[in-house]
Order: sequence, then structure tokens, then C-alpha cells
Amino acid sequence: MTDLTSALALTGPEATLKLYRDWADSYDAGFAERLDYRLPAHVARAFLAAGGEGPVLDVGAGTGLCAAALREGFGGEIDGLDVSAEMLTKAAEKGIYRALIRADVTKSLPLPRVYRGITSSGTFTAGHVGPEAFGPLLAVALPGCLFALSVNLRVWDRFAPALQALQAEGAITDLQDLPVQVYGAAAQAQDPAHADDRAFILMFRAA
Ligand SMILES: C[S@@+](CC[C@H](N)C(=O)[O-])C[C@H]1O[C@@H](n2cnc3c(N)ncnc32)[C@H](O)[C@@H]1O
Repeated sequence: MTDLTSALALTGPEATLKLYRDWADSYDAGFAERLDYRLPAHVARAFLAAGGEGPVLDVGAGTGLCAAALREGFGGEIDGLDVSAEMLTKAAEKGIYRALIRADVTKSLPLPRVYRGITSSGTFTAGHVGPEAFGPLLAVALPGCLFALSVNLRVWDRFAPALQALQAEGAITDLQDLPVQVYGAAAQAQDPAHADDRAFILMFRAA
């Protein structure tokens, strides 16, 4: 099984920690570059086009690819949050985050309500994080905070009702979903089972 196939089939926190402990060293060159992984760039572009401001919390920061894409047009503060210490170690080497926080985004977060932007690429997908993270994230978001989060269409069925409920209760506004391809053309030869994966870049604001 490829790392990607294993990642999309993760069954819980222990499996997640083990997979990313083993994948951290080869993630950038062996996965992102090899498959022309485009989600970090899509998220960053959507966030910046919508006028995103810092401080930003980058959720499921991994090795820092989303923050690196943001840095192409954004000079503000970016904090990174991830459950994997090994992925955060790789992110720290890039020197682009103000702070790195090891935490599970599905639980209450050890952070104050200070963020004007929340970004995430590749973390809301099969075997990973579901809409249960929205509560903890809204708790650290200032009113008007701009969210730009990728959600893989493999798991969209779980997100649509959660978003409708947040809209109905007035917790979020200005909801949009922008369809994108997760990988570029190189993925067809490298990993045909995932090459055509699509995602929405979910955009909304905290009320
Ligand atoms: C596919 S990687 C994406 C990393 C990076 N954002 C990117 O686009 O390359 C998913 C990341 O989510 C993290 N993750 C998975 N479950 C998590 C959770 N419950 N809380 C925080 N991070 C989590 C993993 O450790 C991993 O670094």
C-alpha cells in the first residue's frame, strides 16, 4: 500500500500518529512533489484572494506546505497546529511559523481566541479530521475570522449537514465552496487511484 492509501484509511489517533511519524521525512519529496500536490496552493490562493489577515492558524500544518504557499503573498503571523510531533519538526525547519502547537483539533484547543484567519490543506479528508473540529476552531476564531479549509469530496457527505447546522444557528456567514483538483497531471502516472481526487476549498467567516 502507498502512504497515501494508508493515510486515507486511518482508523484512529494511534494509527494517525504512527503513520505520520513514519511519513514525515519523505512527505515533501516522496508525496507532495511526486504527485504535484496542489491543495496547499489552492487554499493559500483562496485565502489571500478573499483578503485574509493574520494572525492565521494553519490546522493540520504537517510539514508546513500550506504556510509556505501563504508566504508567497502574506507577511503576517502564522501559527501551525498538528497532532504529529514529527510533522511539526519538519515544519519548524522551514522557519515560517510564529509558533507550532501540538494538539488534536477535534478537542478543546490550548489557545486563546486571537485568530483572524484559519487555513487548512489536506486535513479534512478520509481517515483524518471531520466536522467535529469546527467547534474547537470557532472557539479560537475572532468574530469575522476568515476560514479557508480544503475538504476532500470523498468525505463531503459528512460536512454538508454540519455546515448547514452552523449556518442555521448563526455561527458562520458567507459560506462558499470552490471546487479544485487535489493533484496535478503528474499524479496520473504515479498514483492513478488518487490522481482524480477533488476537493472543495470551504470559505466562511466566524459570526
Ligand atoms: C495530509 S497531511 C496535510 C499536511 C499539510 N497541511 C499539507 O497540506 O501538506 C494531514 C495532517 O493532519 C494532521 N492531523 C491528523 N489528524 C489530526 C488531528 N486530529 N488534529 C491535528 N492534526 C491532525 C496529520 O498529523 C498531518 O500532518
